[in-house]
Amino acid sequence: MKLSPKMIKALNDQVTLEASASNSYLAMASWCEVTGYQGAANYFYVQSDEERTHMLKIVHYLNSLGTITTIPATKATISSYKSLEVLINTALKNEQAVTKAIHNMVEIAQKEKDHSTYVFLEWFVNEQVQEETKFETILQKFDLLGRDKLGINEIDKFLATEATAPTDPAA
Ligand code: FEO
Repeated sequence: MKLSPKMIKALNDQVTLEASASNSYLAMASWCEVTGYQGAANYFYVQSDEERTHMLKIVHYLNSLGTITTIPATKATISSYKSLEVLINTALKNEQAVTKAIHNMVEIAQKEKDHSTYVFLEWFVNEQVQEETKFETILQKFDLLGRDKLGINEIDKFLATEATAPTDPAA
């Protein structure tokens, strides 16, 4: 089967978004590490790897259908944040933009009756629900535990427990 040019472009754009997310989380991890938030740093290093697996999933999908993926250049990321809360908020906004892009691709697949891409995207739709929930839950902690040093320390400890290995890109 052949993908439409519109779908190829949308999938390539998604490769760019996932690569940007990976870079942006790497920069967040780096800022957290230097600032002394070790738990958050570990969390975002893992998150950065996870985004790379998302990118690879799409690259492999395109390649499996004989379309050579355009590997994008990505823009420079923000390297400094006012606070951990601002950083988490930025991550949530990032995920919301990714969700929108995924949903847009699902609509294209539906319109074009591209069943294979539609099924392929199902994994991403579910993943985005989890991704947004993850960051919303962390943001809630600032209200629950506080924004003073002790509160932030508790949130950092929570993030340390949440840092898990990325999913297998071939899964
Ligand atoms: Fe690949 Fe966090 O979306």
